[in-house]
Amino acid sequence: RKPVTTSRMKKMKKDGTPITMITAYDYPSAKLAEEAGIDAILVGDSLGNVVLGYESTLPVTLDDMIYHTRAVTRAVQVPFVVTDMPFMTYHGSLDETMKNVARIMQEGMGKAVKMEGGEEIAATVEACVKAGVPVMGHLGLTPQSLYQIGGYKVQGKTSRQAAKLLQDAKALEQAGAFAIVLELVTEELTELITKELSIPTIGIGSGASCDGQVLVFHDVLQYGSPIIPKKFVKAYANIGDQIRSGISQYVQEVKERKYPDSSHAFQGADDVLTFLYG
Ligand code: KIV
Ligand code: NA
Repeated sequence: RKPVTTSRMKKMKKDGTPITMITAYDYPSAKLAEEAGIDAILVGDSLGNVVLGYESTLPVTLDDMIYHTRAVTRAVQVPFVVTDMPFMTYHGSLDETMKNVARIMQEGMGKAVKMEGGEEIAATVEACVKAGVPVMGHLGLTPQSLYQIGGYKVQGKTSRQAAKLLQDAKALEQAGAFAIVLELVTEELTELITKELSIPTIGIGSGASCDGQVLVFHDVLQYGSPIIPKKFVKAYANIGDQIRSGISQYVQEVKERKYPDSSHAFQGADDVLTFLYG
């Protein structure tokens, strides 16, 4: 497969071909997603919740995003990789923002960035695009504003909220964003925004009318605990159960002295190099 590009994703919208995206935060998860045929990978700041154990995405740092982006971009050739700009790294001066974006692209070996917000960040989006950095927008429930919004609430329910969201989406398109994530937006408004824009919408909890879908790796695969059931998530595997049962079997066999047995040990004639290099 040829590497997925921003123009290819725009063409997919035109052709009515759904765009598939999943989050990944490290080498093996990104590699497996690529092997499964995913179009795009998001190194989301949701890693704060699902791999670092924070209660929100706010404690995630630029250094965290750089570290995880490097692991992901090292792993894949085909999927388009997007990295979240973490909380408050794109709200200072433009100069400061550009330095932060540059660190993601250079130190993180990133390919594109995602920013939460609408009209208020349009000038920032435009500056990044002019500097050659593809930008993905993110509207609706924006987790970096969780404490202002007051919880995980569905967005776009009132006509005033809906009008503002549509205006924000158009501002991002105008600023040069290549796609927009719509999170927890009502089905009706999602359909309208998707129709009004020439760039793809990628939905999470926003229904079927989006040009693509994105979900969090750990939600899709039920990996980690506690799993918070979400209406919009469909679990396609339960690797948490498999991991727990695998580890508990290992624990039990060591306790019972069943593992290791002599087949796992080296005898006088064995060469360790065979083990290291196959
Ligand atoms: O961080 C993340 O995983 C995201 C997606 C939920 C869109 O921003
Ligand atoms: Na995010």
